Amino acid sequence: MSGGRFISFEGIDGAGKSSHIETLAAWLRERGHEVVVSREPGGTPLAERLRELVLHAPMDALTEALLVFAARRDHLVQLIAPALARGATVLCDRFTDATFAYQGGGRGFDLAVLAQLEQWVQAGRTPDLTFWFDLPAATAAQRRGAARAPDRFEAQDAAFFERVIAGYAARAAAAPERFARIAAVQERAAVWAQIEAEMRRRAWW
Ligand code: TYD
Repeated sequence: MSGGRFISFEGIDGAGKSSHIETLAAWLRERGHEVVVSREPGGTPLAERLRELVLHAPMDALTEALLVFAARRDHLVQLIAPALARGATVLCDRFTDATFAYQGGGRGFDLAVLAQLEQWVQAGRTPDLTFWFDLPAATAAQRRGAARAPDRFEAQDAAFFERVIAGYAARAAAAPERFARIAAVQERAAVWAQIEAEMRRRAWW
């Protein structure tokens, strides 16, 4: 295993993870760490093009799963693995748990196929720590509001997001030492306090 730490951030749309990624990046940089912030689908020029398709072009569930894993492969090879190899901390807005939650839970796609793709694409590389921003579907929908045109996922109904939450819960139950569940219904400062406490508890820094 290479030197850097790989941390992912997960949760349904509207759970509020993005601003905390920036706060954690600054917190780590103050402590002298090189930090790479990225996102999925995306993170490289090729993967960002695939993101556009996944978020906006109609397609079936298998095509969607293949495209998110194709984007992930490029992201891993081009950006994540080299950053970890030189000792950087990688903070990633979503990773493979999102595929199990959205394609597996939300769309009902075959989890065994996803597990096979995960093995091929990642060859054992998984995040060291995953912050799961857990929020009731109704609260997340209120937070999302009507601020902008929804993409193919944001446009889904409450039942879809309930299945996504169940998908995340199953992944967390299967890897409890990797997951830190954040009660994202709390106010911002309390959410950050939980993240900081988890970082200190791990004492990697
Ligand atoms: P998101 O990360 O929420 O970005 P933004 O804040 O710009 O909306 O959007 C990415 C969407 O892609 C989100 O709805 C979840 C979905 N997604 C999947 O369905 N599968 C995946 O494997 C990943 C990484 C994301």
